[in-house]
Parts: sequence; C-alpha cells; structure tokens
Amino acid sequence: MKHLLSIEELTAKDITWLLDSAEHLKSVRGRDAGQPLAGQTWAMIFTKSSTRTRVSFEVGIRELGGFPMFLSKNDIQLGRGEPIKDTARVLGRMVHGCVIRTFAQQDVVDFAHYSGIPTINALTDDEHPCQILADLLTIREKLGGWEGRKIAFIGDGFSNMTISWMWAAKHLGFELAVASPAAYQPPAEFLEKLDATNVTITTDPAVAAKDAHVINTDVWLSMGQEDQQEKETAFGPFQVNSALLAASAPGHIVLHCLPAYRGKEITEEVLELHAGAIFQQAENRLHAQKAVLVHLATKR
Ligand code: CP
Ligand code: NVA
Repeated sequence: MKHLLSIEELTAKDITWLLDSAEHLKSVRGRDAGQPLAGQTWAMIFTKSSTRTRVSFEVGIRELGGFPMFLSKNDIQLGRGEPIKDTARVLGRMVHGCVIRTFAQQDVVDFAHYSGIPTINALTDDEHPCQILADLLTIREKLGGWEGRKIAFIGDGFSNMTISWMWAAKHLGFELAVASPAAYQPPAEFLEKLDATNVTITTDPAVAAKDAHVINTDVWLSMGQEDQQEKETAFGPFQVNSALLAASAPGHIVLHCLPAYRGKEITEEVLELHAGAIFQQAENRLHAQKAVLVHLATKR
C-alpha cells in the first residue's frame, strides 16, 4: 500500500492490519508510540470544510513526530486554477506526504501519480476511506467486530460514505443493507462492478433497519450539493428516529460520521442516546489515521 486513495483498492488484509495498528496506537497514546514521522513535513490540501479530518490529521502527524502544513485551496495557486498535476510535482519535491480533501477522486489519483509521495484521500465525492476505517474500529470496539452482524445505511445511497461502505462490505463480507430513495440509489453499473451479494439496496428504511446491529446515517446534502433542496424533500422518510430503530437488533448502535443535522437525517433524541458511540467514532479518526500515516511513512 503506497497511498490510501479509496476503500475500493484495499484488501481485507490491509484493513485488518490498519485496524490492529490503530488499536495499538490508541492503547499507547501519550506513552511510547515512537516518532516514525520525525523530520517529515506532510501537506494537507483542503478544498472543502472540515473539523474532524483537519484536527485529527494535524494532531496525528504531530504526535508521530512530523510537521503538518495546512493548505487551504484559497491560500495556494490551486484556487486560482493551477493544475493539480503541477501542484503535485512541486509539493512532491518538498514534502514527504500529502493529505487531500477535494471534489474529484481523479484529482487525488493524479496527485498521487504526479507527486510520487504517499497520498491520503481525506474525502472526495466518491469515497471517504479514513472515515470508514474509524467506523470499523468503532464497531470492533463496541460490538467485537462485524462477524454475523447486519449493518444498515439509511440515507444517500450513492454518496462518498455509502460507496466506501459498500466496498468495505465487499472486502470484509458483512451484510450491508442500504436504504435510500429510488433516485439516489447506486446505479446498476456500480453494483455490477461491486459484485457483492452481501450488499442489498432497498427503498424501505424499515427493511434496512430491521434486525440491524449498526445503523449508519450521514447528511442528506453532501458538501457541494447545498443548492439541491429538492433532494432533501425526497429524503424525508429516511430519518433515523426512534420509530425506525424499534425493530433493530437488541444492543444496536447508531453511527454518524458528523456533522449531523438534527431534525433531518437524525433526531436529537437518537443522536444524544447514541452519542457515546458517535463521538467515540469521531475520536477514532485520530487513531485510524495515525495507523495509515505510520504505514505509509515506514512500511511501503
Ligand atoms: N466526518 C468528517 O469527515 O468530518 P469533517 O468534515 O469535520 O472533517
Ligand atoms: N457525505 C458527507 C460526508 C461529510 C463528512 C459530505 O461529503 O459532505
């Protein structure tokens, strides 16, 4: 693994290794974790907003002995139209790795190719691999793993989060039920490429939530879609609320990658009832990403 560009391109072995490493790094945090990034500078190019991803990467890089350099799109020439491949060739000669949050997946792929330095996808329109690693770590911690568990995703069926979840299910073999309005389901070509009989798609949120051990949701309008108000109307019946969870498995957990919009994709009541798991999930971004950084900096 030279880069972390998507969950799609990982293997079950990669995921297991990263989660084991994340668990270890979490257990030794503040004690002797070594400084595998000592002397390294990691750029962080962000063209979208972020709280969790930015803070967890800045803290993680520092804790591993490196120096994070946050570069907002508007502060660098990328924001004035300099091509990603030129930005990549400049940074590749100066820094040791790069974390990128942007729109097009191809920009992250191109950056990795042209820079030649380890590159981490910190969210694109197609995938959010760092988030899924943190979510899997949380499921391990809260439920002991995904073996024999049903995982549901209620919301946008073809967002960065659902796409990454579907690839995780393909690699790890757990049952994943995605519920979303017909117009926002994964297209047939994607499902053909995914080729996973353990992933089911429905328009009925109750079918997905029934007997589920993990119920995931995410914003209805992802970053960049704020003007698609008609989309929000279609998602009304897809709110994660106590009525929907009534038939979920006993001891189920609710996860949300955050930020959450209470009264839309999740109710205040459900979010607060499951805040323990949801904020543990947010914290796990730090530990999962430290595992990725250690791997890319030392084990390529
Ligand atoms: N979940 C997540 O990626 O949060 P941020 O957008 O705050 O980074
Ligand atoms: N699907 C959301 C995830 C936010 C972390 C978005 O892209 O805005």
